[in-house]
Amino acid sequence: MAKTLRRAGLTLGAIVVMGAIGYTALVQYGLHKSYPQALQPESGAALQDQIKRGEYVARLSDCTACHTAQGGQAFAGGYRLETLFGAILSSNITLDKETGIGNWTQEQFDRAVRHGVGSHGYLYAAMPYNAYAKLTDRDLTDLWAYIRTIPAVKNEVVKNQLPFPFNQRWTLAGWNLMLFDDAVFKPTLNKSAEINRGAYLVDGPGHCAACHTSKNLLGGDSNSYLQGGTLEGWHAPDLTPNPHVGLGSWNQGDIVSYLKSGTNRFTASSGPMTEAVENSTQYMTDDDLRAIASYLQSLPASSGVQPAPVAASDTAMIVGKKVYESQCNACHVSNGSGIRKMIPTLANNPQMNSADPSSLLNVVLKGSQGPLTHANPTAAGMPDFAWKLSDSNIPDVMTYTRNSWGNAAAPVTSDMVAKARANLQAKSWAGGSQSQ
Ligand code: HEC
Ligand code: HEC
Ligand code: HEC
Repeated sequence: MAKTLRRAGLTLGAIVVMGAIGYTALVQYGLHKSYPQALQPESGAALQDQIKRGEYVARLSDCTACHTAQGGQAFAGGYRLETLFGAILSSNITLDKETGIGNWTQEQFDRAVRHGVGSHGYLYAAMPYNAYAKLTDRDLTDLWAYIRTIPAVKNEVVKNQLPFPFNQRWTLAGWNLMLFDDAVFKPTLNKSAEINRGAYLVDGPGHCAACHTSKNLLGGDSNSYLQGGTLEGWHAPDLTPNPHVGLGSWNQGDIVSYLKSGTNRFTASSGPMTEAVENSTQYMTDDDLRAIASYLQSLPASSGVQPAPVAASDTAMIVGKKVYESQCNACHVSNGSGIRKMIPTLANNPQMNSADPSSLLNVVLKGSQGPLTHANPTAAGMPDFAWKLSDSNIPDVMTYTRNSWGNAAAPVTSDMVAKARANLQAKSWAGGSQSQ
């Protein structure tokens, strides 16, 4: 018996040692693998065109969203991203030789952007290299030509401030092995060129799934592709043609208008989507926006079933209606229709029907400045209600708006509002008027 146990122990030990050796080999292989560059940078007039194309690729990819800190210089890094494991700061990607990527070759740039290996080893997936892996050689080379025109800025960024063991970059080799599909975009043969272009933009540079696909326990994409995700206190809704919580009742023009101006006849963007619209999607050509819309419309609708609305006789609905009439009517109008292109309609609005009310809580508690775009330069604002309404009136008015005018969604509870107040560091209720 003792002998068998000892033998089992030895076998187990051998497996662990072999595993460790295999893993170390994998880490070393991953860090030193070379990526031959098929395309070379242009020169002369052709270089000017290439730089212009590269600038457009940077717009499509929204590099500036994360690599420019608030009030900081363009692409000098230091923007803070909250992840499941702690905060990560973005890198300085200007050409400064000491603190940026001034000594890099195109191959090193490619290794970081498409393959997830940077100056300090594996990159965290907060840098969406799992989407950028899809970039074509052409787009990657153009992007590099553009990045090389950005003025160098000296800005030392803390490379890692995660707690142990998440600060160990070598562990990310395992993450990549399980969750990273390191492959350039391949068009689907039986789909139109427009739909393929849309798929490329959504899955590659646009990295829409980073926010619109829910994450699994390891922080990778779940299988519910583009069916809605939650990030930093916001809910990014279902983008499939689900008629209740997705884009089922939006036509191609509605999607194009939303991405170009931040508004359409149903809604207006807020939070992280406003940033995406202001920095990225408003600059996309109409052809590219139409391609994205056609692709999203071609997806199979998610299968969520529409719940029955909360009954109008429910106390929350009765009180919620009173709160709505005194606080919200003036802008959103009594039938929830809003005012076209200025105040979003709350009726027939997929975000209102989403099971997860995070974005709605965010907007109602903290208020929101609507998107400012070339197509819509005078956006209206939503006032903050955290100080004005109590933890019982806010859930009531939200339950009421989520279950009136054809909407149907789970009630919002006082507990959810109290938690959101704390997480979002919203103001406390100042007392004052309360409807019961
Ligand atoms: C969603 C946020 C986000 C977006 C969008 C983003 N990045 Fe990053 N990027 C990061 C973060 C965070 C890091 C640092 C990751 C780390 O330390 O592991 C990073 C790291 C990098 C690095 C590695 C630098 C080094 O010294 O190792 C490069 C190069 C880079 N990004 C280029 C780009 C380019 C080019 C784009 C647009 C195509 C882009 N990034 C878009 C968040 C982002
Ligand atoms: C940084 C995170 C993030 C990225 C990247 C992002 N979105 Fe969003 N998106 C959101 C959030 C959050 C909302 C909800 C905004 C609101 O409620 O006003 C949203 C809303 C939307 C809506 C409106 C849906 C509705 O029902 O109201 C559309 C359409 C949309 N996004 C499309 C896209 C597309 C296409 C891309 C990629 C090109 C993309 N988004 C990339 C976070 C993101
Ligand atoms: C002064 C006008 C005004 C008042 C009053 C107002 N809102 Fe708004 N509301 C807006 C505007 C403008 C937006 C769009 C903000 C944006 O795009 O970020 C908005 C957005 C919203 C949204 C997000 C909709 C979406 O599609 O994501 C919700 C929910 C909302 N309001 C609920 C309410 C409730 C509930 C009240 C009353 C307690 C209220 N609003 C009072 C102007 C107003």
